[in-house]
Amino acid sequence: MEQKQLVAQAIVAATDGQLSLEDVVAKIEVPKSYDLGDYAFPAFALAKIYHKAPQQIAPELVEKISLDGFDKVEAVGPYVNFFLDKKAFSLEVLQEVIDQQANYGDQDLGHAGNVPIDMSSPNIAKPMSMGHLRSTVIGNSLAELLKKANYNPIKINHLGDWGTQFGKLIEAYKLWGSEEEVKKDPINTLLKYYVHFHQVDQEQPELDDEARAWFKKLEDGDEEAINLWTWFREESLKFFKGIYAKLGIDFDSYNGESFYNDKMDEIVEILQDKGLLQESRGAEIVDLEKYNLNPALIKKTDGTTLYITRDLAAALYRFRTYNFVQSLYVVGNEQTNHFNQLKAVLKEMGYDWSDEIHHIPFGLITSGGKKLSTRRGNVILLEEVLNDAVELAQKQIAEKNPDLPNKDEVAEEVGVGAVIFHDLKNDRLNNFDFNLEEVVRFEGETGPYVQYSHARAMSILRKAGDVSFDQLVGLNDEESWEVIRQLSNFPAMIKRAVEEYEPSVIAKYAIHLSKSFNKYYAHTKVLTDDEQKNTRLAMVASVATVLKESLRLLGVKAPDEM
Ligand code: ARG
Repeated sequence: MEQKQLVAQAIVAATDGQLSLEDVVAKIEVPKSYDLGDYAFPAFALAKIYHKAPQQIAPELVEKISLDGFDKVEAVGPYVNFFLDKKAFSLEVLQEVIDQQANYGDQDLGHAGNVPIDMSSPNIAKPMSMGHLRSTVIGNSLAELLKKANYNPIKINHLGDWGTQFGKLIEAYKLWGSEEEVKKDPINTLLKYYVHFHQVDQEQPELDDEARAWFKKLEDGDEEAINLWTWFREESLKFFKGIYAKLGIDFDSYNGESFYNDKMDEIVEILQDKGLLQESRGAEIVDLEKYNLNPALIKKTDGTTLYITRDLAAALYRFRTYNFVQSLYVVGNEQTNHFNQLKAVLKEMGYDWSDEIHHIPFGLITSGGKKLSTRRGNVILLEEVLNDAVELAQKQIAEKNPDLPNKDEVAEEVGVGAVIFHDLKNDRLNNFDFNLEEVVRFEGETGPYVQYSHARAMSILRKAGDVSFDQLVGLNDEESWEVIRQLSNFPAMIKRAVEEYEPSVIAKYAIHLSKSFNKYYAHTKVLTDDEQKNTRLAMVASVATVLKESLRLLGVKAPDEM
């Protein structure tokens, strides 16, 4: 960014202030090819002012520009092309990374403001789906990114541990369940009951009434219902925590939907006081017509509450508890309407902070082009995916580096990292198809490729032994220039990823940096003894630092050897 300012200042000076600095900054372009320099200024904007053709203006500007900070400034047609002073620039960038290490790219966008992140939030008694994986890894990466930008993220797992599905589960358990079977394999057994319920209730609709009655009992505190619910919840949570441990992700709070049971009356009261509740066929609703939304159903005919009622209570609780500057919900885009309703009801309640609530939606994961759904039992089980990925990584390592010490640990980091990276490298909103072989490849745009590039940089540094980075010189060769420019871009990438809530910015950046580094390494003998050797090594060390930090921000480990 600073270099762009330098270019802009040069233009402003050469045009005697005819254009404002801001105006010039906005017009500066980055040419497609390096033959045309690092930055270009199109002289079109000056044609009206000077009453001349831009092709004529460009060379005249070049005459007036001082070379301070540039290797070369030249006119090509209507453009003024700037070539940065590679030596000065590379020295500055490398010094910065070497000095700041993992703190390179830190910035204060958040002024330590609290940002609760609603993430993962799987449903009790069902396995975690790939959709929940997306929420978990996107939420975790956003938390790391926000921290780097000096926000204070609070990771909240809003467990789906309440709702009508528990009525169904209890009914199913009462009909076909066995304690022994559940104890042996809780998640799969409970899922089996749940799936079976949905198959049978097609022909026996009275089962749905029974299920509703059980949920009503649960909300009313019936002992048998509560005991079963508690048991299902504990078993499920144990299982989820196993997966989180595998992913290396933790939470600041496990306050799920049930946590808000005693906090919903207040919501209903406020809605009533403000005259927002209306009766509609025995149920209580909030009309949202002026937002162009369907009415929000707050209470059902039988008095039981709904998903949105619990979310209203949660939103208010979070505002009171954290006094947040933003409140994020990392949830699939199929719930967009729900979050629009949530925000609209809060707005109607007079809470202006509802403007700071952001739904961070993401696309679907399909498998073989088909949508995944727990209800139909057609889920890719996350645990299986992770285990398979680790196994694939093991095979690759056995082929490529059979003597690697701590092979199993590395395979775990590579396999799990591959799944996380694959998820994050796609733009959040894109749907994508999941194909394990592709995810764990060591080549192409994968997590293992980035990890491998990092390990390669580390191995060069190991070979070099003890080197001092005290006396660096500038690098001006074409091969290192691409790497230097990428390194200098890192802080801007962090800013963009935070502002767009988009971890893919960092994943794509890490792939680019890896590619440039590997290309550099293929062309250049880093370890040759000459006066630039330590600077080249400083660049290799900088690449290792920035790749490792990029992976960390995504929630992926960077083994030193693989
Ligand atoms: N448990 C829900 C589901 O699996 C996601 C919950 C998202 N968070 C929220 N506050 N509504 O679909």
